[in-house]
Amino acid sequence: MPDVLNRVKIAKSFGSASKSYDVSSRLQRYTGKHLMSLLPNRTDITIVDLGSGTGFFTDILASKYQQTIGVDISNKMLTFAQENRSKEISWLEADAYHLPLKDNSIDVIYSNLVIQWCDHLDIIVKEILRVLKPGGLFIFSTLLDGTLHELKSSWAQVDDEKHVIDFKTPEYMESVFDNGSCKLLEHKTKNLVLEYQNVMHLARELKGLGANHVAKEKGKGLAGKDKWNKMTSSYQDFQEPSGIYPATYSVYSGIVVKLND
Ligand SMILES: C[S@@+](CC[C@H](N)C(=O)[O-])C[C@H]1O[C@@H](n2cnc3c(N)ncnc32)[C@H](O)[C@@H]1O
Repeated sequence: MPDVLNRVKIAKSFGSASKSYDVSSRLQRYTGKHLMSLLPNRTDITIVDLGSGTGFFTDILASKYQQTIGVDISNKMLTFAQENRSKEISWLEADAYHLPLKDNSIDVIYSNLVIQWCDHLDIIVKEILRVLKPGGLFIFSTLLDGTLHELKSSWAQVDDEKHVIDFKTPEYMESVFDNGSCKLLEHKTKNLVLEYQNVMHLARELKGLGANHVAKEKGKGLAGKDKWNKMTSSYQDFQEPSGIYPATYSVYSGIVVKLND
């Protein structure tokens, strides 16, 4: 499996945020609710919430569907979800690259803002198609290139290291989801701009979500502080007349159907 170490770090970062996640997740709440409107009306189905996090949406799925399974790579996220969500839900600690689910066994996979953490989306798609029944749906949202461009370009003024994860392009998304095995039934890209009081507010929100593992790799201490100050000073170029600091999220949502073999 590719990049296992990186995924251990991702799991650790999200795990450390299991208690702060729900109050920091305004973007995730917005996109997750939109995905809910794309779900099928039939209720006698088995649905998986892939990358279920604190289980906020898994709980809503469980109130509607016959069988709901929450899957996450972070043990701490799963523990939080297990303690706070419906007892009807089955929880699985697993990696999206290797789902402990049988072939052709799942009707719908719902996944809100998770697959941007998976570099090898082509492998994830194969795994999703393996477990979905023919005609089964993958209903998802993710983030595309352009996300956090203000932060990325502000860091680029300071050094040439990676401070923001790489996001995929819309063309790439279409190439992985529109092939002989599956079809992209519908998709939408929407740029959402969230407002922050300052750059520290943005950094705290990313940390509260556990979505900061790339930034965490940066140096600490004086050199780190110096670089941080340079970056925040570059970010001022984006400050709006009202005083707020914007951060752009390019949200891509879609419905994919598994074609018959
Ligand atoms: C931004 S959170 C989204 C949580 C939830 N879907 C929501 O809408 O609130 C991303 C979640 O995906 C999980 N995750 C990241 N990479 C994963 C992988 N390879 N396999 C399974 N879960 C993964 C993280 O542990 C985290 O809980």
